[in-house]
Amino acid sequence: MSTDPSDHRLAVVGGGVMGTNIAALAIGHGVPVVLVDVSEELLAQAEETIAFKLRHAQLMGRLPADRTPAKLLTSLSTADTADATTVIEAVTEIADTKAEVIGEVSRIVRPGTLLISNTSCIPIDELASAAARAEELVGVHFMNPAYMITMVEVIRGPRTSDATMTAVNHLLETLGRTGLVVNDAPGFVINQLLHPLINSAARLVQDGVAPVEVVDGLLEGCLGHATGPLRTADLIGLDNLVDSLNVLYERTGDTACRPCDHLLDLVDAGKFGRKTGEGFYDYRKLAS
Ligand SMILES: NC(=O)c1ccc[n+]([C@@H]2O[C@H](COP(=O)([O-])OP(=O)(O)OC[C@H]3O[C@@H](n4cnc5c(N)ncnc54)[C@H](O)[C@@H]3O)[C@@H](O)[C@H]2O)c1
Repeated sequence: MSTDPSDHRLAVVGGGVMGTNIAALAIGHGVPVVLVDVSEELLAQAEETIAFKLRHAQLMGRLPADRTPAKLLTSLSTADTADATTVIEAVTEIADTKAEVIGEVSRIVRPGTLLISNTSCIPIDELASAAARAEELVGVHFMNPAYMITMVEVIRGPRTSDATMTAVNHLLETLGRTGLVVNDAPGFVINQLLHPLINSAARLVQDGVAPVEVVDGLLEGCLGHATGPLRTADLIGLDNLVDSLNVLYERTGDTACRPCDHLLDLVDAGKFGRKTGEGFYDYRKLAS
């Protein structure tokens, strides 16, 4: 694989918050994408979201001016990943779901196809055990929004091969991203730090120490965070955050990672953050 976009064909499995982000990033860099999800309704919604994100990226000047956006195809079948040069798994943060997708896709694609997991917290070597060829799996933790943030966390599992690391470097260069490589661990670097912070911020609100806007305001105004932890949580999706915290808690035993009651209550109420219009903040007012 080279850094020429015409050498790449990307399959993205999972068309939610991150699958649509990654698809928009790739298409905008001239790399064609086939997006796989589980229902026609979700795929139709994902197509609209990708078109919106592509326009946003263009307006913000985040795409190379000399590349024509590539084609997007959608599919309900992982069989349509067969022709890809890279498959990115971006399904729900449930270990069994991911293992099933990675196992299935790795048996469909040709040997030598780059296999990436966008997991937030599940150790890469745990997922590699489900793959037909463990050495072809690498973690790439794209940030949200993927087309705005150029840095990514690359997770090299103990079985990830040198050839896979070379291939992922070529893909990231093609997509204009810079990767910093870390070793395998639950949550890697970013989410071992970020997720307990968000959980603690939610617990401060729960305990009445300060309201949402004050917690975020202090971290933004005093510590220079671009976005406070609770606004960040709404962007991530509180359902995904709870799944990720559970992954961390189950694998580390660290009680700071056990999702606090306030987070669980918001998720039980269907308040997942931006994607449902309400989370710690109410986005419905902004839309009207
Ligand atoms: N949300 C973020 O900010 C963020 C950032 C970095 C990484 N991640 C990680 O990216 C992954 C996806 O997260 P998300 O926020 O996009 O979640 P999401 O809930 O928005 O989307 C997940 C998608 O996966 C689909 N899916 C589930 N099982 C499937 C299957 N078997 N085959 C095909 N599609 C399937 C769902 O229908 C859904 O559309 C997770 O591992 C998450 O931890 C999320």
